[in-house]
Amino acid sequence: MTDWENCYQQGETPWDKSAAAPELSFLVGAGLLRGRVLVPGCGRGHDARAIASGGGADVVGVDLAPSAVREAQALGTATGLRFEEGNLFSLPQEWLGTFDWVWEHTCFCAIDPTERQRYVTAVHAVLRPEGRLLGTFFMNPSMDPGEQGPPFGTTEAELDRLFGAHFTLESQWAPRASFPGREGRELMRQLRRLG
Ligand SMILES: C[S@@+](CC[C@H](N)C(=O)[O-])C[C@H]1O[C@@H](n2cnc3c(N)ncnc32)[C@H](O)[C@@H]1O
Repeated sequence: MTDWENCYQQGETPWDKSAAAPELSFLVGAGLLRGRVLVPGCGRGHDARAIASGGGADVVGVDLAPSAVREAQALGTATGLRFEEGNLFSLPQEWLGTFDWVWEHTCFCAIDPTERQRYVTAVHAVLRPEGRLLGTFFMNPSMDPGEQGPPFGTTEAELDRLFGAHFTLESQWAPRASFPGREGRELMRQLRRLG
C-alpha cells in the first residue's frame, strides 16, 4: 500500500506535473464544473485551482496526505477554493448529497483496485441527485499483467460494471490533450448520478 504522505515528504511525486490536467482547460472553457465541485485526491491542487479560476465554482480539494494539503494551500487558495485533509472514504457527513460535480483525475487509478467499489459509493454519496462525476480515467493498455501500480489501469468494461448501477454514462471521449507519456492511455467520462 502506498504511503502517500511519505511520498510528499520525500518529494517523490512523479505524477505531479506542476500543472492542471490538460483536458481541464477545454472543460472549464466550455463552462462545465460550475457550482460545488469536489476534487478527491487533489494532491498539490493544480486541478482544483484551474477549476476555480474559471469562476462560478466553489471548489474543495481533499487529500489524505497532510503534506499535500499544506503544499496545495501554500501554492494558493482564493475565493471559491479551499483544500482540506480528508479521506474520500470517510468524508464529513454534512458534505453528503451537496456537490454538483466531482472531478476525477489520478485518484481512481491511485487507490487499490480492491477499493474501487468504495470509491463509487463515496462519490455517489457526496453528489447531489443528478450531480455529475467528470473524469479522466487511466486505461493503461500497455500495463503488463505482472506490473505493479499505482497507477492501476482500468477498462471500459470495469467502469461500466462499477458505475453502471449508480450512474448513467452521459458521454465519453478521448482527451484532446494529455501529459507526455499518457497520450492514448486515458479516457474521459461524464456520468450523472442516479437516484
Ligand atoms: C497519484 S496522486 C495524484 C494527485 C493529484 N491528483 C495530481 O494529479 O497531482 C494520488 C493522490 O490521491 C491521494 N489519495 C489516495 N487515497 C486517497 C483517499 N482515500 N482519500 C483522499 N485522497 C487520497 C494521495 O494522497 C495522492 O495525493
